[in-house]
Amino acid sequence: MRILITAGPTREYIDDVRYLSNASSGRMGYEIAKAIVAAGHDAFLISGPVDLPDPNGCEVHRVETTGEMRDVCVELFERCDGVIAAAAVCDYKPLHRLSGKLAKTGEPISIDMIETDDVLAQLGSIKQHRWVVGFALEAENARENALQKLRAKNCDAVVLNGPAAIGSETNKVELIDETGNVVESWSGNKSAIAANLIAWISTHLSS
Ligand code: CTP
Repeated sequence: MRILITAGPTREYIDDVRYLSNASSGRMGYEIAKAIVAAGHDAFLISGPVDLPDPNGCEVHRVETTGEMRDVCVELFERCDGVIAAAAVCDYKPLHRLSGKLAKTGEPISIDMIETDDVLAQLGSIKQHRWVVGFALEAENARENALQKLRAKNCDAVVLNGPAAIGSETNKVELIDETGNVVESWSGNKSAIAANLIAWISTHLSS
């Protein structure tokens, strides 16, 4: 299979030197990219800014903003069998990016923000014969919210995890498929979870 994988955070700039982002190490996505290669598939890794080396054997595209991630994903998805969206995409961006550097005034400031494009939802809307696997990071009503995301983004399955995943070597996840049921739960090193996920996809989603 040819598998697209998103990883890491995205950045949205307030001015030329300041940005909003998420506290994501990118580790889960990079481990998935390695597991894809180890299982004999082709991996196309679209990564936000992270402090990790390119995994061997992957085609890596480094991006910074959500818009850049969306554009590269939409272009590559056409030639892939499916996508796994592990990126911690920045959900909001300033309505206007200022040029230069916003000077301090000693007063509180407010910034008008708008939602960024949803990369996964966009891929879900154009998927046709391809499969789509999302992640859901939930702090409360976890299964209910994850299932809502699965439906809203037209996913075939969603990997549910919690805030403890951020920056950690390990993770604890549940896999929910399109029936809405928890069909697997895995915990341990992110590399082991990644291998389990790719094995599950190979069995259940590849045509
Ligand atoms: N995602 C995406 N583009 C966005 C936001 C999220 O592709 N702009 C993807 C993530 O990569 C993940 C899934 O959507 O696979 C769910 O992300 P999550 O952060 O859990 O949820 P959100 O949809 O951002 O919703 P909320 O922050 O309100 O929980």
